[in-house]
Amino acid sequence: MNTPTLHTDRLTLRAFTEADLDTFSQYRARPEVAKYQGWSDYSYSDALSLFNNTDYANFAVAGQWYQLAIADSDSDHLLGDLAVHFIDEQQVEIGFTVAPENQQKHLAREAVTALLAYLFGTLNRHRVTATTDTENTASYRLLESLGFRREAHFRKNIFFKGAWGDEYQYALLSTEQTATQHV
Ligand SMILES: CC(C)(COP(=O)(O)OP(=O)(O)OC[C@H]1O[C@@H](n2cnc3c(N)ncnc32)[C@H](O)[C@@H]1OP(=O)(O)O)[C@@H](O)C(=O)NCCC(=O)NCCS
Repeated sequence: MNTPTLHTDRLTLRAFTEADLDTFSQYRARPEVAKYQGWSDYSYSDALSLFNNTDYANFAVAGQWYQLAIADSDSDHLLGDLAVHFIDEQQVEIGFTVAPENQQKHLAREAVTALLAYLFGTLNRHRVTATTDTENTASYRLLESLGFRREAHFRKNIFFKGAWGDEYQYALLSTEQTATQHV
């Protein structure tokens, strides 16, 4: 199936287009965005390669990752992105980024809320997980505000930018999401 387009009050969630890649590579290269991510520098060619390797015409294939654009619903300008990994037929891992100038406006919460409604409601998935650096307060507060449970604290499990780091794993079941849904 094709990648869906989802709408919220302020946002459109959709497949990336090449027109997004300048903005995408620019905010990914910002030190505050890269701080807890796997990259340090991020170029336009990194963005193009990610875009070319995402099969938007065959969405929700087990084992595949998809990058969804979080765009302004009026201007269609790129504000951030969601990463969606279909681990298997029932479980999905997600990630999220909002460009620094757009942060702390509850845009990530609005986008992830819509994504969860789609994954649990339309696609009938069972469980959604997310992993975050234990120092990434914005990330784990976002997850907790959406009802995700902290299921694990991995101690020095990831060698990351020159040092061992800790990570939290969070999860939300479809049954739990119904109880905590707030759009
Ligand atoms: C994590 C991130 C996507 C949050 O985006 P956002 O749009 O600013 O988040 P929201 O405005 O929806 O806020 C969600 C919750 O996080 C909290 N939060 C957001 N930024 C915060 C910050 N810098 N410090 C502390 N809490 C923060 C908000 O207060 C809110 O909690 P509340 O409802 O209890 O008030 C954003 O900070 C980001 O892109 N960071 C860089 C990339 C990254 O590290 N991604 C996560 C990888 S696992």
